[in-house]
Amino acid sequence: MAGRLEGKVAIVTGAGRGIGRGEALALSEEGAAVVVNDLGGSTGGEGADQTPAEEVVNEIKKNGGKAVANYADVSNYDACEAMVKQALDEFGRLDILVNNAGILRDRMVFNMSEAEWDIVVAVHMKGTFNTIKHASIVFRQQRSGRIINTGSSSGLGNAGQANYAAAKAGVSGMSRALARELGSRSITVNCVAPGFIDTDMTKALPDAQRDALLGQIPLGRLGQADEVAAAVAFLASPRAAYITGTTIHVNGGMYMS
Ligand SMILES: NC(=O)c1ccc[n+]([C@@H]2O[C@H](COP(=O)([O-])OP(=O)(O)OC[C@H]3O[C@@H](n4cnc5c(N)ncnc54)[C@H](O)[C@@H]3O)[C@@H](O)[C@H]2O)c1
Repeated sequence: MAGRLEGKVAIVTGAGRGIGRGEALALSEEGAAVVVNDLGGSTGGEGADQTPAEEVVNEIKKNGGKAVANYADVSNYDACEAMVKQALDEFGRLDILVNNAGILRDRMVFNMSEAEWDIVVAVHMKGTFNTIKHASIVFRQQRSGRIINTGSSSGLGNAGQANYAAAKAGVSGMSRALARELGSRSITVNCVAPGFIDTDMTKALPDAQRDALLGQIPLGRLGQADEVAAAVAFLASPRAAYITGTTIHVNGGMYMS
């Protein structure tokens, strides 16, 4: 059976590990060629390593899909322009942009350094702008495009995450503004908001905090990366053409609206 995204081209940022890896694999399974972006840093955003992106590209190719690696830091505006150009040069078009790359620098506000604030806002919020700025020019010209950004239930406000909550709430607000700006050209802009997903980002949590979070989830377990990816693949699919400016919460019922 042909996938829902045959002939489409996608960029997924932070796709070397965790949720982004799941999203790159899911879009590829649906037939899309994928630019697998990942800086390969630590959860705290230190360092760089090409291995995570390369491994996902190899996995996609082994499964018969098309993919190319990109190692840009999404907080770098020029590097994001080059990433969009790479998609066009490699695959001839761009249809789907998934902004997923992210880091944590958790700290109570009275202990938080300026650098810890700046890097979290730069990666999540500016990084989301950086890719959209360049991709939206392509999408406007072709009068189609799917933008899927990554919010978080933490955007509602978790103690110790003022930087992250501000950045995620910023991504949500930006997404709604862009849904209005770009809708007339048949470009949709939506968010997925993961709750408590089993990735490197959440593995470091102390047991007590983990248990407390699990107690708030009606479905009684952590989510998996492929469960977030399924929502992204739907938002990227033809079936979601009339959905824009919304957020799909993938959180086992942790927060309801
Ligand atoms: N795991 C959760 O429970 C959860 C919950 C809510 C939201 N989220 C969000 O989902 C997204 C993915 O989280 P995850 O749990 O898979 O994290 P992860 O740490 O497992 O993976 C994040 C990936 O992003 C990459 N990355 C980090 N900074 C980058 C940069 N500047 N440029 C390019 N790549 C970069 C990392 O190298 C890493 O491979 C993030 O935006 C995160 O905030 C996660």
